[in-house]
Amino acid sequence: MAKSISIDKKISFLKKKTITVEGDKSLSIRFLLLSSLSNGKCNAKNLLKSEDVINTINCIKKLGIKIYSNNQNCKVYGKGLKGFNYKKNIILNAGNSGTAARLLCASVIDSNQYIKITGDESLKKRDMGRITGPLSKFGAKIKDNKKKLPLLIKGPKILKPITYHENLGSAQCKSAVMIAALKTQGKTKIRCLPSRNHTELMFQKVLKVPIKIKKKNKYETIEINGLNEFNKFNYKIPGDISSAAFFIVLVLLAKNLSLIIKDVNINPSRTGIIKILNKMGAKIKFFNKKNYKGEIVADIFVKSVNELKPINLNPKFNSSAIDEFLLIFLVASRCKGVSKFIKLSELNKKESKRLDWGIRILKMIGINVIRTKDCGIKIWGKKDLSLNKKYIIKNFLKDHRVFMVSVIAALTLGGSWKIYDSDSYKTSFPSFLKILRNLGAIIK
Ligand code: S3P
Repeated sequence: MAKSISIDKKISFLKKKTITVEGDKSLSIRFLLLSSLSNGKCNAKNLLKSEDVINTINCIKKLGIKIYSNNQNCKVYGKGLKGFNYKKNIILNAGNSGTAARLLCASVIDSNQYIKITGDESLKKRDMGRITGPLSKFGAKIKDNKKKLPLLIKGPKILKPITYHENLGSAQCKSAVMIAALKTQGKTKIRCLPSRNHTELMFQKVLKVPIKIKKKNKYETIEINGLNEFNKFNYKIPGDISSAAFFIVLVLLAKNLSLIIKDVNINPSRTGIIKILNKMGAKIKFFNKKNYKGEIVADIFVKSVNELKPINLNPKFNSSAIDEFLLIFLVASRCKGVSKFIKLSELNKKESKRLDWGIRILKMIGINVIRTKDCGIKIWGKKDLSLNKKYIIKNFLKDHRVFMVSVIAALTLGGSWKIYDSDSYKTSFPSFLKILRNLGAIIK
């Protein structure tokens, strides 16, 4: 039987004024993969210890890299760009993590024997064609299962640099090609739509590998000169804005609450949620801003507001809020009037079909919502939405974000909720329920 939690009471008071959230997932996975390719002992502080990150650690260990981690501190003994050393027929299981699976494929693109990469039930449904396409152009030999996991990957003797056009706005695709480029002699050229730029910042500010980045109209071009070894490095991972976002929306939708979330990564390629909520009438503020190796870290202040406005969102914000749309739909359901979102086909390519789940949850709570032709949704919000029925959330492929958004809906809208697969949040945010309970939420 899948485990479940029950919530029957809204949150009306916060026992704490300040919280921190765990380390950024994208940066934690990038730290592990890039440190394994460096030369020497790399240290990370505040590494996220979620299931996605633990699966990444286990995969890299199978590649012959020593990793020691103690709470949030982690040491990785990199052996250089060609340092992996592993047994025959190894299987790398990325669990639920698309980032780990896709970036691992790139990390082993030069292996001299087939390596199998696989994942859980949700990851096996996700498209791998988006990275096997460009990785094959480098010369990798890939045997896959209709562009899905499990797949087998092996390198040629010499990889060829490629020119790659990335048209999905996917940081995973861009980063996979960037990692493959590190292992390839010559110049790899990427033209991509904007997406989170953590890999670029790590290449430039931390690894100091030869890379040129230019902006041209809506595209970015990246050129990387490969086969340049890089030194060991240390990295302190800031808090994850995608985790902070649940608390931001909790406070925003409650009455008379306020909260500070400390040391969060507010890299502009990740702050779509803040820009969108502020356009909807929130007054979220950043303070104590610091630059850390190109990333911007700050404290976030949020308070409840009486009235929020609907939004007709320009899709140029989609990529910088890609993991936060379920929360944004929830906020839109509390704004009097019609909100419109378009060009969200990528949402249905995540751990579950999140566009479909957004529609399903809003319909369940009595909101008029339709799916539009342009892969979008239209939401008729209600200002005084308050619930009093029973709601059951289950069979969501254990998508951590579906679970967490349902918890926030229960704590802010009322009603009696039973939410299944109550371990799913451990994929990205293991302290989620603990922080909520410490704030005063009653979750049984
Ligand atoms: C991620 C990129 C995004 C995001 C995912 C993490 C990353 O996916 O949804 O949670 O760390 O690069 P896409 O790049 O596929 O949009």
